[in-house]
Amino acid sequence: MKAQRIKSFISHWLNKVDEHSIHSPYFFDFYKQVIKPAQKTKGDQALEKLRERLLLNNMPVQMEDLGAGSAVGGQKKSLADITQISVSPTKLSQLYLNILNYIDAKYVVELGTSIGLNTLYLSQKADCRIFTFEGNKSLINIALTHFESLDRKNVQLIEGNIDHTLSEFLQNTTKINFALIDANHRYEPTLRYFNMLVRRMNEKSILVIDDIHWSAEMEKAWNELHHHSLVYGSIDLYRCGILFFDPALNRQHFTLSL
Ligand SMILES: C[S@@+](CC[C@H](N)C(=O)[O-])C[C@H]1O[C@@H](n2cnc3c(N)ncnc32)[C@H](O)[C@@H]1O
Repeated sequence: MKAQRIKSFISHWLNKVDEHSIHSPYFFDFYKQVIKPAQKTKGDQALEKLRERLLLNNMPVQMEDLGAGSAVGGQKKSLADITQISVSPTKLSQLYLNILNYIDAKYVVELGTSIGLNTLYLSQKADCRIFTFEGNKSLINIALTHFESLDRKNVQLIEGNIDHTLSEFLQNTTKINFALIDANHRYEPTLRYFNMLVRRMNEKSILVIDDIHWSAEMEKAWNELHHHSLVYGSIDLYRCGILFFDPALNRQHFTLSL
């Protein structure tokens, strides 16, 4: 596992280009408006204060075995460790919020809420409805406390195993502008969730997959998905992969850094 990550990190580093190599007007603009501002961000002051407090909180949290990356059931982890290891870092959360603003997203799906810090970032776009999915009961309670204390009325947490909750949710949903797949970091569920979500997306929608180089399985999923017949553009930022669905984008792929 470790050797694979080192190999993929080196490969990303060797292949990445800078803004001067982006000749497509759409991707150049996307880089300028979405990626570049996220590279320099300090994040939202109130949310970063919350992150600081969580990083000092050693309260034990019960883990549940829901999929790769969610730890072994029965095990406990400190809230500080969860914040450090499982929660999106500031730059990434800001990147996602920048995407929502860029495409003026109204309907957003986040698979994997954890403690809800990334969801709080997404919900800063107040005219947007965020549907976030989590199966771990202890994490659900922590996330709900955060949403309530910060009065986020545009967030709906869908509780339970995504393997069951996602299909039910999609039966009553007609469109999704942005989706983040950040739950069960395995090949099969990643492809399955993608195939379910993509049916509700349109050509202006964007789908992000987190941790695309985290394991050989995730790399395999990413390599297949960015060549998927419905995908017309992609950006590999190493930590995450961004997929675009507009046929006008001519199937371009970029390797960039965040
Ligand atoms: C990496 S964390 C999510 C981080 C969050 N999206 C962020 O950006 O900070 C992944 C979460 O997905 C949850 N999870 C994993 N597999 C799941 C499943 N099959 N159903 C429900 N939740 C799941 C885990 O409990 C964990 O809290």
